[in-house]
Amino acid sequence: MIKNDSGTIPVADFIVHNLDSAVLFPQPYRGRGTPVSWLVEEHKNVSIASCEGRIVWVGPAADLTQNVEIAEDTKFFNGSGLLAVPGFVDSHTHLVYAGDRSDEFEMRVQGRSYLDILAAGGGILRTTSAIRNLSEDDIFVRSAERLELVMKTGVSTIEIKTGYGLDLDNEMKMLRVIDRLRNAYPARIVATFMGAHAVPADRRENPEDFVKEICDVWIPAVAKSGLADFNDVFTENKAFSVAQSRRILEAGLKHGLKAKIHADEVNVLGGVDLAVELGATSADHLLMTGEAGISRLVDSGVIPTVLPGTSTYLMEAHHANARKMIEAGLPLAVASDHNPGSCQFLGAGIIQSLAMLQLKMSASEALIAGTLHAAHALDLGNEIGAIEAGRRMDLALFALDSYRQIGYQVGQNGLYELIIDGVPVFGEP
Ligand code: NIG
Ligand code: FE
Repeated sequence: MIKNDSGTIPVADFIVHNLDSAVLFPQPYRGRGTPVSWLVEEHKNVSIASCEGRIVWVGPAADLTQNVEIAEDTKFFNGSGLLAVPGFVDSHTHLVYAGDRSDEFEMRVQGRSYLDILAAGGGILRTTSAIRNLSEDDIFVRSAERLELVMKTGVSTIEIKTGYGLDLDNEMKMLRVIDRLRNAYPARIVATFMGAHAVPADRRENPEDFVKEICDVWIPAVAKSGLADFNDVFTENKAFSVAQSRRILEAGLKHGLKAKIHADEVNVLGGVDLAVELGATSADHLLMTGEAGISRLVDSGVIPTVLPGTSTYLMEAHHANARKMIEAGLPLAVASDHNPGSCQFLGAGIIQSLAMLQLKMSASEALIAGTLHAAHALDLGNEIGAIEAGRRMDLALFALDSYRQIGYQVGQNGLYELIIDGVPVFGEP
């Protein structure tokens, strides 16, 4: 059991008491050079105490009063019948969007490819028209509905990308929507600027000029607004070349925006090498990444993030090689990539199921990938992502007997309560 070892007994203002079980990670991965542990421990009869949103003690329910000071106004949440896992971290989403692309879904089912639809002016560019034509309020309302659904699956931290504005005004509009979501909901929201998501139709004649504008005008403006944490780029044929991606990510780094990359989704162009070269926080998709890319990632500090919802939704012949990545010792993360075109799977549970079914991950690997390692993919790996004294009190409470049932019960959602920063989101303590 993890205990506070400060010598004094910590005060608690909120306690989840008498949990049937809680999942602890005995050796949380802490970044570059730290060995990755895929072991989880499911402890019985546990209490978790927090103060001001931070866990101060985790241990056997029977030992609570000897280890934690309980004040008159300390709030108790009855954990009986419940399982606690760390709040899920969805480290890659395009949750802010509008419009409908169900016809493209059918076209793809009938054999058209994702990149062909994009090249023909559909795909990302259609959502861009929807975003440009809607008010900030309307986009907020549509995105808020989805955020509520995501939280109901146990996600306490979510990354959301821009990339459907594709001009500075509309990219800023998306960033403001993300910021409004952050203020309106308790979920921890990380914002990623993705102006380099696609080349809009009216810039196709001169994509170099578009890239230059992103680097010289948009990125400085986005950085100045303080509304984005990361800068992401879609490195792919019919999107951005490696050379263009390098300029875009370097411009972001120069202005304090940490780097992420959509790499090897359809073709291996060198996005993984670029991520390692620039010290990107994460490299995402990696559907086509083979042994060379995997060995490049070893000890690089770049968190490889796989998105089994997308490869399933795009009906790909194969999925990211998670087994090889795990064997190579990589701190693999898994996320949803929820977006209007290539992945409508939403929330934590279904992605846990797909990580198991498609990527052949064990329940314990999927859980760590969707919590602790996903937290590292947002540079929050020492703050959230595990139930441990010192970290934020973010818990997903399920009416389940074991964490193994989360992925097993496909599409069912046994979430009972979500705790963020020591506050129950859906009900009263
Ligand atoms: O991560 N690959 C590029 N971007 C998204 C899809 C966005 C869309 O189709 O609207 C992705 O799959
Ligand atoms: Fe994506």
